[in-house]
Amino acid sequence: MTGPAKKLLVKTWGCQMNVYDSARMAEALAPLGYGPASAAEDADMVILNTCHIREKASEKLFSELGRLRVIKQQQAAAGRRILIAVAGCVAQAEGEAILARAPYVDLVTGPQSYQRLPEMVARVARSGGVALETDFAVAEKFDALPEARAPQGVSAFLTVQEGCDKFCSFCVVPYTRGAEMSRPPEAVLAEARALVAAGAREITLLGQNVNAYHGEAADGAVWSLGRLIEALAALPGLLRLRYTTSHPNDMLGKDGADDLIAAHRDVPALMPYLHLPVQSGSDRVLAAMNRRHTVDHFLSIVDRLRDARPDIALSSDFIVGHPGETDADFKATMDLVARVKFAGAYSFMYSPRPGTPAATAPNQVPDEVKAARLQELQALLTAQQRAFNAATVGRTVSVLLAAPGRHAGQVMGRSPWLQPVHVTAPETLIGTEIALRITHAHPNSLAGEMLPGQALAAAPQAFAA
Ligand code: SAH
Ligand code: SF4
Ligand code: F3S
Repeated sequence: MTGPAKKLLVKTWGCQMNVYDSARMAEALAPLGYGPASAAEDADMVILNTCHIREKASEKLFSELGRLRVIKQQQAAAGRRILIAVAGCVAQAEGEAILARAPYVDLVTGPQSYQRLPEMVARVARSGGVALETDFAVAEKFDALPEARAPQGVSAFLTVQEGCDKFCSFCVVPYTRGAEMSRPPEAVLAEARALVAAGAREITLLGQNVNAYHGEAADGAVWSLGRLIEALAALPGLLRLRYTTSHPNDMLGKDGADDLIAAHRDVPALMPYLHLPVQSGSDRVLAAMNRRHTVDHFLSIVDRLRDARPDIALSSDFIVGHPGETDADFKATMDLVARVKFAGAYSFMYSPRPGTPAATAPNQVPDEVKAARLQELQALLTAQQRAFNAATVGRTVSVLLAAPGRHAGQVMGRSPWLQPVHVTAPETLIGTEIALRITHAHPNSLAGEMLPGQALAAAPQAFAA
């Protein structure tokens, strides 16, 4: 440690990869003496880790910056300096423009430059100037950042793949996260062991296209995600595995290899829940979106998954009102949802993003049409989610207890299908997987009760790295 302890606040928007990256940034800055701050008012540095995916997400940066500007002025009047850093996908997309619009920002860093953060912070703190890094060097990022070691809790994230080469017509991710890159399996396994040693019992493997994972091992062998999952499942102490987000085209390997689908059949630790974004149920719109698959392909993947793991539940992402989407196209999306039956879903009105092909397409859909379609789609998806939750009532379900609940004496866990489950149980059971009888289904969570004789189960063991 150099100098007196300083306080860091990291505010995170966007996807789970941003959550993971925020923890990495905090760990990278710990050697400079930064520990956690509870609020911007008592922080020496604030990092805003931003999301560019839809217009509303991007706007949050500038409203937050307005607030921080006032705090920065108040601190300056009291003779203190607070550093303001903008990270994440808006930083990557807008770089210089952020410094021009908000000159009180000290530091802007895109997601592929976080390994340079300690040096940037030291430089800015010394010189009083500003720093901007928006290079793409994903491999360097993972080599240079400290391994995730800080406890993330019972359920941890681990980035195995980053970036995207797919260039869907509507999406900024290929521009903000760069080309697709997979971490070597040895690095992933080492990080997973460290997470388990720090208390993780469930790991969610992250990637913008996580099922495109193709990590090269030291012996030159290229591992698929299926192979990686099998190796991770063998780690002592790791009870559950998940992965997100997947592209329908990468559920099978290039040569048609189905080891990922087979993992759903063969690896009990791999949870029977898959987030598989389809976006639209119309082949015409899928083609306009450059998704490069058809509705039939998606349905055939769903069938194969359900054959491999009959209790698998699916969630998905949908966009309504992509340029050119007609009433008939939208009806095809409704038909697909009715046919597949999803346990959960995210659905959005198409939001034009600067620099993406769809943003300048001539046939934009009016906002009121988008809003009406979204409402209709969400009504169906919500009804499906409720039906799925209701179907668990009365069943005995394995729940990984993860954290104290909102009320005293309560503990919160997750079912295999990612449903939050609340139960009255001793906190000593946190970190264990137990069978609970589901008594009630609420719209977004379940209530469970312990089975007779369970209260004496052993406290969680520690697993060494
Ligand atoms: N493969 C990525 C997808 C990230 S974006 C992943 O790792 O999750 C998450 C979802 O946001 C997409 O699946 C899509 O449904 C939605 N989305 C992306 N761009 C959008 C846009 N311009 N307008 C509305 N929704 C969008
Ligand atoms: Fe975006 Fe498409 Fe890549 Fe997903 S696959 S990150 S939606 S470009
Ligand atoms: Fe948002 Fe970037 Fe994730 S745009 S969704 S934070 S990859």
